[in-house]
Amino acid sequence: MLRAPVIAGNWKLNHGPSATTEFFESLIPRLPEEIRGTVAVFPPSVSLSAAKRALAGAGIRLGVQNLYWEPSGAFTGEISPALAMDAGATLALVGHSERRHLFGETDREAARKAWAAIEAGLTVVFCVGETLEERDAGRAFEVVERQFEALVGEDGPPSPEALAVAYEPVWAIGTGRTASPADATDMHRHIHSLLSRHYGAGNAGLVPILYGGSVKPENAAELLAAPGVDGLLIGGASLDPVSFAAICGMA
Ligand code: 13P
Repeated sequence: MLRAPVIAGNWKLNHGPSATTEFFESLIPRLPEEIRGTVAVFPPSVSLSAAKRALAGAGIRLGVQNLYWEPSGAFTGEISPALAMDAGATLALVGHSERRHLFGETDREAARKAWAAIEAGLTVVFCVGETLEERDAGRAFEVVERQFEALVGEDGPPSPEALAVAYEPVWAIGTGRTASPADATDMHRHIHSLLSRHYGAGNAGLVPILYGGSVKPENAAELLAAPGVDGLLIGGASLDPVSFAAICGMA
């Protein structure tokens, strides 16, 4: 289970094992012990073992950015949930917009990955979010609902303790254009209502809802203060230990 307010860094295709070791050597002394349990980092999978070593029980959570649903076999280039866990991951990012839009991952594939991760014992940060075209067409809520409902499928939702949802509007990722706190609140309330539909009002609160998209030290505090925002998923600004630690300190 992820403890809110969650501050998570998604490094994407950055920081190999050596840079990862240097990053944590710089980050750990900057983070007060009491907030470390709410901080998570998603390095490239080749850097997970180095991250685990560098963290040495510091309490920061590690996650894998992507995985495959099969447990083993002839799937060249893929990583199973069990391999990710062996390398140090307790979390998995699934359905990131770059997976969906650059690599053609479908709602169904994202859902399969999430279920495989959860069944193996990982906590999943499940990403949802609309494109600019979908937002301009007034379809943002509908798109996010479709992405989330694919995860629920016909068999019902996973345990709320094994799930966090990250709202990442595609138009705000890496563009410098952030959703306003009011936009984030509107969508987070919508996601909360989807969660309530399946978990009931009480248990829906067990699933943290993170905002992601051009979060920087300059805008993190106002986004964190927005009603319904339980944490942040940070790309570019998570690559530098100084700016990442600054954001962690605002939670
Ligand atoms: P940026 O913070 O670089 O916009 O990336 C957001 C993101 O995609 C995090 O998963």
